[in-house]
Amino acid sequence: MTSDHQQLLAAAARARQNAYAPYSNFKVGAALLTETGEIFTGCNVENASYGLSMCAERTAVFKAVAEGQRSFKAIAISLTSDGSPCGACRQVLHEFAPNLLILIGDDSGQLTSQTTLDALLPNPFGPNNLT
Ligand code: THU
Repeated sequence: MTSDHQQLLAAAARARQNAYAPYSNFKVGAALLTETGEIFTGCNVENASYGLSMCAERTAVFKAVAEGQRSFKAIAISLTSDGSPCGACRQVLHEFAPNLLILIGDDSGQLTSQTTLDALLPNPFGPNNLT
C-alpha cells in the first residue's frame, strides 16, 4: 500500500460525504488517479426519476475526461458494505483503462479489498472491437 493509494482512499472517503443518495441511502465515493498524479473525485448522485441516478465511479471518470484527462492508474471506491463497481461502471472504466487498479475502502479510507478491472470484466467489448 503506497502513500499514493492511501491518499486516494482518503479522497474517496471524503467524496462519499457529498453523495446524494436519498432514495437508496447507499452512499458511495470514488477517487480516480491519473497517470500524471492528479485525483478526480466523484460520488453517486441520485434522482427522483430513479433511472437517471449516476454512480460515483462514472461521475469521477466523466469529470476527469471533461477536464482533458484520459489516462488512469487507479480508482479508489469508498462504501460501507462489501461491494465492487457495477457493470456499467466497469464498462465505462474499460474504455480508458482496461487494467486499472481498483481499491475498495471503507468510510474512513481503510483498504478492504483490491482487484483489477481486467479481473472484474473478462472478455470485454472495447474501442479495439470497432476497428
Ligand atoms: N452505486 C455507486 O455509486 N457505485 C457502485 O459501485 C455501486 C452502486 C450507487 C448507485 C446508487 O445510487 C446506489 O449506489 C445504490 O445502488
